[in-house]
Amino acid sequence: MEPYAFFKGQYMPLKDAKIGILTQALHYGTACFGGIRANWDAEKEQFCLFRLKDHYRRQLDACKILNIELPYDEHDLADFTVETLKRTGFRENLYCRPLAYKSSEAIGVKLHDLEDDFFVIVTPLPPYLGTGGIKCCTSSWRRVSDNQISPRGKITGIYVNSALAKTDANRTGFDEAIMLNEKGHVSEGTGENIFVVIKGQLITPPSYDSILLGITRDTVMQLAKNELGLHTVERSIDRSELYVADEAFFTGTATNVAPIVSVDLRTIGNGETGPITARLQELYSEVSLGKNPKYSEWYTIFKYD
Ligand SMILES: Cc1ncc(COP(=O)(O)O)c(C=O)c1O
Repeated sequence: MEPYAFFKGQYMPLKDAKIGILTQALHYGTACFGGIRANWDAEKEQFCLFRLKDHYRRQLDACKILNIELPYDEHDLADFTVETLKRTGFRENLYCRPLAYKSSEAIGVKLHDLEDDFFVIVTPLPPYLGTGGIKCCTSSWRRVSDNQISPRGKITGIYVNSALAKTDANRTGFDEAIMLNEKGHVSEGTGENIFVVIKGQLITPPSYDSILLGITRDTVMQLAKNELGLHTVERSIDRSELYVADEAFFTGTATNVAPIVSVDLRTIGNGETGPITARLQELYSEVSLGKNPKYSEWYTIFKYD
């Protein structure tokens, strides 16, 4: 058992997949990645890859923004991922990390006339924020806007923006940073979307407030509507609305649904997981583990022979 990669058109142990130090994407952040969970169901002895093709559709959109042309569609990319997973031999929760990138070994800042390539690695899931209460600060770093680097895709260069905010937050004793956009509206966490509940209304920032259109965000909105009869209002959120919210939570592939218990040292609600957050946490956990047949179109199931 070991982490595996699909790299330069071949399957190989992760330790054998290497790139040259002049690779354009390494120098200029000209790549886009994904993050997909393969959840292990020990009872059924199978993996459930959650919304695999939706993740690849979003990554292919980011490729368009970056002028990356891959000779693959989302079905090919999904097949490479499952085949890579199969070769790992692991029987535990795994993380799939695809990257599409400018692979030419060339100096020069540009997007055109360069070679493109794609790899995906599959490895055990590293620990992330956890599902306990998260203590947040508002970052002094502003979220990049669509006219700087589009936050619509997981473009590697953007993550400098997230890393600056995350490190400042952690070094000042917070678990996570909440970033405001250029207009001062709440945008998202450094690697998660955000929701608040105010007077029974579920609210999340809209696409035009510099957010990544998260797959978990979309899943939660659909679950809230279908299972709780709760319509999500997509509107700009002011910073101080975070302070007076009854509930707040993050969503993301790595984070799942994670309650925020304080923002800028102000307690959210009573400082515990709120009732709507708890309900959505349960629903999301069931669905992302492949355990709700109503949402089977979201599941890619893989079983070892
Ligand atoms: C900046 C940012 N926002 C939101 C998310 C959540 O997206 P998803 O739910 O598709 O994982 C991520 C995921 O990595 C992210 O990097």
